[in-house]
Amino acid sequence: MSKSITVKHLGNSDIPVSGIGLGCMGLSEFYGNPVSQKAADNLITHALESGLNFFDTADMYGSGHNERLLAHALKGRRKEAVIASKFGIVRKEGEYSRTICGAPEYVRQSCHDSLRRLETDYVDLYYIHRIDQSTPIEDTVGEMSRLVEEGKIRAIGLSECSASTLRRAHAVHPVSALQSEYSMFTRDPEQEMLGLTRELGVSFVAYSPICRGLLGLLKPGEKENDFRQKLPRFHGEAYEKNRGIALELNALARSKNCTLAQLSLAWVMAQSENVIPIPGTTKVGNLTANIGSLAVSLARNDLAAIEDILAEHQVEGDRYTQEGMKGVNV
Ligand code: ATR
Repeated sequence: MSKSITVKHLGNSDIPVSGIGLGCMGLSEFYGNPVSQKAADNLITHALESGLNFFDTADMYGSGHNERLLAHALKGRRKEAVIASKFGIVRKEGEYSRTICGAPEYVRQSCHDSLRRLETDYVDLYYIHRIDQSTPIEDTVGEMSRLVEEGKIRAIGLSECSASTLRRAHAVHPVSALQSEYSMFTRDPEQEMLGLTRELGVSFVAYSPICRGLLGLLKPGEKENDFRQKLPRFHGEAYEKNRGIALELNALARSKNCTLAQLSLAWVMAQSENVIPIPGTTKVGNLTANIGSLAVSLARNDLAAIEDILAEHQVEGDRYTQEGMKGVNV
């Protein structure tokens, strides 16, 4: 890492990661059209130069496009990066509908395909993206543990699983990371998973920590191919209500001389020392601002003021459509 930035160890491993990562999904799909390779190269180079080394991708983001984009951007600098990728959501190119697969032969094939696209011999952190109800988790993790032995992956993660699945997986092979949606607007992990990850020494990787841009004061409906337009929270009255809550929080952020996105990231990190947020951005300016959130410290009275606002208003609308909830909390 070129510059100093808070460094943590990925759970149950000796892999050093920056205290904040970069979610790469939006560079390829879901939040508008894909960015150019040149823009991705620039962003990722800037991340490395700033000391951010933790890059999050998945085979299904742009059906392989995202992994290839990352591979190109990391040419000659692979060893400086910690690459996290995922398998298990099976989609036809361009379609959102999906099936979930954790069959051992599928795990192995997916890993080989990701290694080829990433142009590397190993994935640092390999996640089960969603949980397949028809394959025992022991079989999926068992195959991943063989990939660890073979040096093809360095650490194992699960995404959006239930507590019992995490415990069962961890009994087969130490789990390094649980990745789930977590933000001021999505607090489900506080019920069980934050405590459980701490107990097991697992890192909690928080995706959508800016609530997909809602906590960055994003106005939806401005871009082509933006799947957020389909999400209940981003629609009509629900959106207006949620934006109102965001604006109240924004006033608090301004009193702290930071932006709402920075406050959101600082809040997530303040909830537990094992939380590593991976905000997604396509812009160098926002990346710099997000890294800057590491310097935002929230005192007890700041946290209490945030809590008061969140207790007063209910966030409106589910975080996903029904299709998006497949394999979640299993
Ligand atoms: P995800 O994990 O799903 O990518 P997220 O990190 O909660 O979701 O939010 C990503 C969204 O927040 C993107 O729309 C991103 O927009 P840009 O690509 O234009 O940056 C936006 N975002 C990221 N960092 C931001 C910041 N510092 N201020 C405002 N918006 C930001």
